[in-house]
Amino acid sequence: MNKPAIIETRNLVKRFRMDGQEVTAVAGVNLTIRAGELLGLMGPSGSGKTTLLNLLGTLDTPTEGAILLEGKDLARLTEPERDALRLRRIGFVFQSFNLIPTLTALENVLLPMEAARMPGPERRKRAHSLLKTVGLKGRLNHLPRQLSAGERQRVGVARSLANRPALILADEPTGNLDSRNTDEIVRLLQEVSQSHDTAVVIVTHNPEVTDHADRILRMRDGLIVEIR
Ligand SMILES: Nc1ncnc2c1ncn2[C@@H]1O[C@H](COP(=O)(O)OP(=O)(O)O)[C@@H](O)[C@H]1O
Ligand SMILES: [Mg+2]
Repeated sequence: MNKPAIIETRNLVKRFRMDGQEVTAVAGVNLTIRAGELLGLMGPSGSGKTTLLNLLGTLDTPTEGAILLEGKDLARLTEPERDALRLRRIGFVFQSFNLIPTLTALENVLLPMEAARMPGPERRKRAHSLLKTVGLKGRLNHLPRQLSAGERQRVGVARSLANRPALILADEPTGNLDSRNTDEIVRLLQEVSQSHDTAVVIVTHNPEVTDHADRILRMRDGLIVEIR
């Protein structure tokens, strides 16, 4: 039986206007991503991958079409409702980690839980346990600059999991990592998708990453042209 759809797009279009020129970054995408699915998103630079991810992550709004997150039409929500949904249901992993440089690993992971008003003792316990899961039990009080690139991205993964998201969006998360750390991050994301039924989208150019994906989408000129 099919697992429930976490996110669904209907004829999704995003156009940008720049210097009087119109660019269609996403040109009519119909996509359903289900619980527990690990999806690889490939395609040349400029094909619309980041734009699509930003739309799925409610960081940007479509020009046309609709997005349903766990059945809710994002266009029908108020901005505060969308913010709350993003905080609680979506985790982000970035190519350049986007950790707060003045906060320790532990504090970076605590941040989204504080924002979601998780009770103090619960969030401390959870932050410790997440950092342990990603193999950083011994690095809780390190600042990002005191961590290697691979360790920083493991903090990034732990942070993305903080509020138990239904969907994780990772835009080239291994773009700044060597192959050993790439394997480790992909293994972690795969584990999350399997053990918590989280839907995970990984944008990548790396064929090693896509070896682990349940499904691979290829984008070209704003359209999904290939599905494995
Ligand atoms: N904020 C923006 N304003 C204008 N054009 C944009 C903007 N964001 C992306 N684009 C354009 O949309 C297209 C798709 O970009 P992007 O989604 O970043 O592709 P990818 O992530 O696959 O490299 C490109 O032609 C890019 O120049
Ligand atoms: Mg991109």
